[in-house]
Amino acid sequence: MNYQQIIRNVYSDILQKENKGKVPDYIPEIACIDESKFGVNFTDLDLNTFGCGDFEEKFSIQSISKVFALSFVYEKLGEKLWERVDVEPSGNAFNSLIQLEADHGIPRNPFINAGALVICDILLEISENPKEELLHFIRDLSEDHQIFFNEKVASSEMENSFRNAAMCNFMKSFGNIKNQPDAVIELYCHLCSIEMTCKQLSNSFLYLANGGKKPSSNKQFLSYSKAKRINAILLTCGFYDESGEFSFLVGLPGKSGVGGGIVAILPQKYCIAVWSPRLNEKGNSYRGMKFLEEFTTQTGESIF
Ligand code: DON
Repeated sequence: MNYQQIIRNVYSDILQKENKGKVPDYIPEIACIDESKFGVNFTDLDLNTFGCGDFEEKFSIQSISKVFALSFVYEKLGEKLWERVDVEPSGNAFNSLIQLEADHGIPRNPFINAGALVICDILLEISENPKEELLHFIRDLSEDHQIFFNEKVASSEMENSFRNAAMCNFMKSFGNIKNQPDAVIELYCHLCSIEMTCKQLSNSFLYLANGGKKPSSNKQFLSYSKAKRINAILLTCGFYDESGEFSFLVGLPGKSGVGGGIVAILPQKYCIAVWSPRLNEKGNSYRGMKFLEEFTTQTGESIF
């Protein structure tokens, strides 16, 4: 399979088509991004890697960081984790509060905001320095130390965190948040503010394509079974209330973020990261979705 050629062709096709969607305006630091940015990077399990366009430019990974946080906490806590967060698709927007009352403060899954807030609460419980430890974990996964929080993005999110604060307080009333909501939100906003390139992302997510093990070092970051389960949740919940559509069109587990990034994985083969800041009405990158749909169509490969 000539992945490089297919990626080049699909990239130039998509570039010529109209770029639709909107950059989110609720995080001022992100609202001013250049909307024409477009990058793709592919890395396979033999560590062949190549990119197109703005693949070496950093952007705000936003909710993609929820996958790193989940991996870190799941490895430490094991199956007990699922007492505090479920594994069902929510069918609702990422920042929706609507199901929390009926579900007694247990979020539907770890990739909606409520779920990620519970993961952050657990991080605060199990780690002395959760921000540093998580950053260290991500740097280890990507084998690259040039990964940082963007303090401006984190502060601007904290100033606009009214919905997340509502969720956190509501879950605390059910006993599913143990720390002070302000501390949980501070950690959550920092996770969202992490900046990475498509190249760093496709390298760092290889552990999920390889049963929890980094192919470069053979270091086991997660057990095979835990990696399998995270991929399953990515497939069913990685794109908020568009998870069914992404699975239908692309056929790969993946995760998006409102910074315009998408990471997708073909287990046993590769990981691909795409970035284009304009989002569709569900909050997923318009060009990112189009690119991946066309990519799996032309390669004729998906998990199905
Ligand atoms: O919590 C927020 O509003 C955003 N920073 C969430 C980021 C995102 O990508 C959407 N997520 N689930």
